[in-house]
Amino acid sequence: MQTKHAWNDGWRYRPQYRPGDETDDCSGSDWHTVQLPHTNKMMPYNCFDEAEYQLVSCYRKTLCMSDALHGKRVYLDFEGVMLACEVFCNGVSAGIHEGGYTPFSIELTTLLCEGENEIAVKVDSTERTDIPPFGGVVDYLTHGGIYREVYLRTEEALRIENTRLVCKNPLQQPCTLTAECRIACDDALGDAILCLRLKDAQGHLCAECEQTLYLDKKGRHQAVLCLQGLTQLALWSIDSPVLYEAELEVCAGGLRTQSRERFGFRHAEFTPQGFFLNGSHLKLIGLNRHQEWPYTGYAMPRRIQRQDAVILKEMGCNMVRTSHYPQSRHFLDACDELGLLVMEEIPGWQHIGDLAWQAHTLQDVRDMIERDRNRPSIVLWGVRVNESQDHHSFYTETNWVAHELDDTRQTGGVRYLKNSELLEDVYTYNDFSHNGGRKIFQDQKEATGLSHDVPILVTESNGHMFPTKRFDHEARRQEHALRHLRVMNEVYRRSDLSGALSWCAFDYNTHSCFGSGDKICYHGVYDMFRNPKWAAFSYAVQQSPHKKPMLEPMTVSSRGERDGGGTVPFLVLTNCDFVSVYKNGRLVDDFYPACEMFEYLPHPPVVVSHLIERDHSFGLGASADSRLRDFLVKRLSKDTLMELSSEDWAELSLIAESGQADPQELYKSAVRAAGGWGEAEYTLKLEGYVDGECVCVREIGERKHYCELRAVPDSDELYAFEDSYDAVRIGVYALDEKGNECLFTQECVRVVIDGPAELMGPEIFPLASGASAFWIKTTGQTGTVRIQVIGSVHQTACELTVK
Ligand code: GAL
Repeated sequence: MQTKHAWNDGWRYRPQYRPGDETDDCSGSDWHTVQLPHTNKMMPYNCFDEAEYQLVSCYRKTLCMSDALHGKRVYLDFEGVMLACEVFCNGVSAGIHEGGYTPFSIELTTLLCEGENEIAVKVDSTERTDIPPFGGVVDYLTHGGIYREVYLRTEEALRIENTRLVCKNPLQQPCTLTAECRIACDDALGDAILCLRLKDAQGHLCAECEQTLYLDKKGRHQAVLCLQGLTQLALWSIDSPVLYEAELEVCAGGLRTQSRERFGFRHAEFTPQGFFLNGSHLKLIGLNRHQEWPYTGYAMPRRIQRQDAVILKEMGCNMVRTSHYPQSRHFLDACDELGLLVMEEIPGWQHIGDLAWQAHTLQDVRDMIERDRNRPSIVLWGVRVNESQDHHSFYTETNWVAHELDDTRQTGGVRYLKNSELLEDVYTYNDFSHNGGRKIFQDQKEATGLSHDVPILVTESNGHMFPTKRFDHEARRQEHALRHLRVMNEVYRRSDLSGALSWCAFDYNTHSCFGSGDKICYHGVYDMFRNPKWAAFSYAVQQSPHKKPMLEPMTVSSRGERDGGGTVPFLVLTNCDFVSVYKNGRLVDDFYPACEMFEYLPHPPVVVSHLIERDHSFGLGASADSRLRDFLVKRLSKDTLMELSSEDWAELSLIAESGQADPQELYKSAVRAAGGWGEAEYTLKLEGYVDGECVCVREIGERKHYCELRAVPDSDELYAFEDSYDAVRIGVYALDEKGNECLFTQECVRVVIDGPAELMGPEIFPLASGASAFWIKTTGQTGTVRIQVIGSVHQTACELTVK
């Protein structure tokens, strides 16, 4: 039987490797005890030199020979080490691995002796130009260390390797599930009995089959098992991501072993008419994701990896691209469980190296597909180096390898080139045409240069075309959200386009030749602390209000923020039918979605074009007052009141005459009423209505007293240690009296932790745009964690339970 145990605790670590570190005493003070996932160097939030983590470091751990290991094959399974490493057992090299994003196993069996065995991992986290993604410039950082989990696995003389599950057409039931695998044996074991069992998510057996295989000699034997006649299978879909488990068991020569794989029955296809999931047309709307966090870089445990998928799903995305490398299995597990489609791609960024470098890429294609091909969420393999030039022989081969390993999924390869050679199944294309003007994307012909339509997916847009910080000016943040809305609108308009995955989900650290002055690419719809920008709501509000009604006004609601003053027009991102606006308690109007602006969007934003109350008195008497209001409302729905045309003046003069007022004076009071100048109070209440019922309310306004500091954990229950430590993000918010973020509060806060957890970053940090966040990790003990967040004006506390 196979056994597998987490091996993430109690590693000794030294940031600078020295010859002899594989076996020399590692109890000295320059060695630290660490747990995996581990970043080789904690970095500041921004403005740092990436050379600081480009270390060659050493990790050590003792493996005690025990009965459980005797007579077994012993392996260490590494899920990800950046960028290359050599593993030693008692000072003897057990194997090397080059490439930071794919898993690998190192066999220790013959190197182990009785008693204690010293395992050492020499980790090279420098940007080695012989290993992808390096060789040219790269717009992201590859933080170092053993940044994913490690497992200690034992096997007997009979093993199951590389199980591949395939159900070609689950739409036509009865259907067949095929399991292909390799049975490895260390002796000629004779007759083997193989069994395949399909279980549902509750563990109930749905079907099973058995077959024999003659293991005539030591080595690997190919096996194929078919579960035929499967009926009543629930399909995996984005709304109902039903998962099954396929259990494979083999018995031979008195030995027995098992493997388990999760699987989902679904059919996915990109066509020239768009993307189809289980035969139904689905517009793909999503974002690119980098697997990076402030301070800890790439190293985050299960819960935090999964949370990014939760964020994307809750945002209403149905697809994510793992730009630009295979990402943590925890993230992909969550995609499988939540129903989030994935395009997974190989490591790289524009550069193609020599043949040896290309061999790494081919290996990356293999390792990525072999690791993830049973996942229902993955619908497309990215088998080009992101945005590299065409390369006929190289990409013919990456496509060949992908199809050989998985003939059920299509390939893509991300380019920014027009007329690029289409060697893949889908023309996956970064289209940054939209620069705020009318053009959103190139059409098929312009992009592909082909005379016929092919399956096409936009894999990036926006991003560097409009970097936007959470603390940018209102107008910029609003335009950022609008650009994402325009891209989505275009996706819905174009019948040939499968969808668009915009750039990108989260801001990220980068090299100095990219990003803003602090080496952050502010391209995310969320910041690095996983706090949303308005653009994130552009996505979220496209979901049905029956799922969750939403209302997000894109205004800082201050009369002095804009050039020239004033607050209208402003936009409200919402999925409600209409929004009623009240000013200082008095009804202004009902405002409706701007369908003429975004003809194809499920939920265009609502434009609040004026703030003149229905019963506003200009002192002209009821009839003239109402005529003037109508005139102003009509005029403000098109433009400001700054420059009136001669026709407008004529109309205004007539109204003034009927109310016996001076037109110039009336104009001034109209401008005041429209902008709210000179009024002491400015409070707006927005009510969102769906099917005639008020389903959400939001109050905004000017008073903005910083009233409260709030700390909100993403989860209030952690586990002490399962396979590894646990961690949680805690959002910190400065709030005003209406519960809105105090955007301009700049206070620094200090975090104090009492209990079995520790901070994963600095203890003192500033709030930006009224918000920030920090992460804490468990120490292995159970108990209550009390967290205080102390600012200069307010403080707050929260509690978590560690079980
Ligand atoms: C693309 C590239 C991404 C990122 C993005 C910024 O060209 O593929 O990795 O750099 O630009 O908008």
